[in-house]
Amino acid sequence: MAKFMVDPWGSVLIKDYKEVMQKFNLEEFNVNLFPKPNRLMRRNIVFAGTDLKVISDAIKNKKKYYALTGIMPSHDKIHFGTKAVVENLKYFQDNNALTYILIADLEALCTRGISLKESHERALNFHIPAYIALGLDAKKTVFYFQSQNKQVINSSYDFSRKITLNEFRALYGNPEPSRIMAATTQIADILYPQFKEKIPGIIPVGIDQRNHVQLTRDVVSRMKNYNFIPPAALYTKFTPSLDGDVKMSKSKPESMIELPEDINSVCKKIRNAVTGGRKTLAEHRKLGAVIEKDMVFELLKQHLIEDDKELQRIHDNYKSGKMTSNEIKELACEKIIVFMNKFNTNLDKVRNNMHKVKFVEF
Ligand code: TRP
Repeated sequence: MAKFMVDPWGSVLIKDYKEVMQKFNLEEFNVNLFPKPNRLMRRNIVFAGTDLKVISDAIKNKKKYYALTGIMPSHDKIHFGTKAVVENLKYFQDNNALTYILIADLEALCTRGISLKESHERALNFHIPAYIALGLDAKKTVFYFQSQNKQVINSSYDFSRKITLNEFRALYGNPEPSRIMAATTQIADILYPQFKEKIPGIIPVGIDQRNHVQLTRDVVSRMKNYNFIPPAALYTKFTPSLDGDVKMSKSKPESMIELPEDINSVCKKIRNAVTGGRKTLAEHRKLGAVIEKDMVFELLKQHLIEDDKELQRIHDNYKSGKMTSNEIKELACEKIIVFMNKFNTNLDKVRNNMHKVKFVEF
């Protein structure tokens, strides 16, 4: 049997998140751990983590800690899965984390062949403004480009001594040199806020990034004299693709929603999505929808409806057959138009205020 692996550079389908948790020895996310959990936490889209108690204690005891994530500008748009990561980062920012976002331009260069110049343009024109438009506070966030952060680059050489090829193979499958470069750089990113001061930190990411966090923790345990605190992690599930696949994929543009995207094209995608509606209206009224299979409901649940009671009402009406798939689709379309319009307005505002964004000075 093939080894169970989640490859950060490939796309892997995960059907059973319990299995992922067991295989990787992750903690199940407990919604009571953090104060005022966000929508993704309440709905189990955030499903697992590592060392979450360390961070929950830091929040409760008002101790210094950091939250850090990275953007690889491999495309000139983002999708809803990225939005989830931003929302989690914002959660920690709102709970007093020192917040860091790095642009993984070296990773984009070595794993995708995207030039540094191209990465910088994309990040400055779109990714950074988009992250801010989604709610991050620019004044409270520190940004850097990997290629400009000499401490990160130098440390990645240092950390590379502590990794074996066999270990790399076990974690990632294919040990291509470019991937090794990207991974050692990412270890340095994850630990960067601790170069100055040893404080706990959390890395909110999609589950595809778990290998990197694991590798970082392994390296930390082998460099005891550095006294790094092993990074904690918070993992989100993949945003499912509208055709019912487990993950939105950039190779299937017709079934993923991008940011930003033209409203007509989004609504068209929603109308073509896989639903849990029955074959005929009569059958639907009698049996109700199969909610678990319904990608539009999933979209409402993950991203478009904030209020739990409202979501429950829709769930109940749809499950009992009172609401039809068409009605669910129209609702999602309405909600997404509101969301996109707000996002676009915010994006324009932020673009005009980019001078306020703080980059690490080197
Ligand atoms: N590898 C991440 C991606 O593919 C980007 C990244 C680089 C990152 N360094 C990081 C993410 C540190 C989290 C933490 O998008």
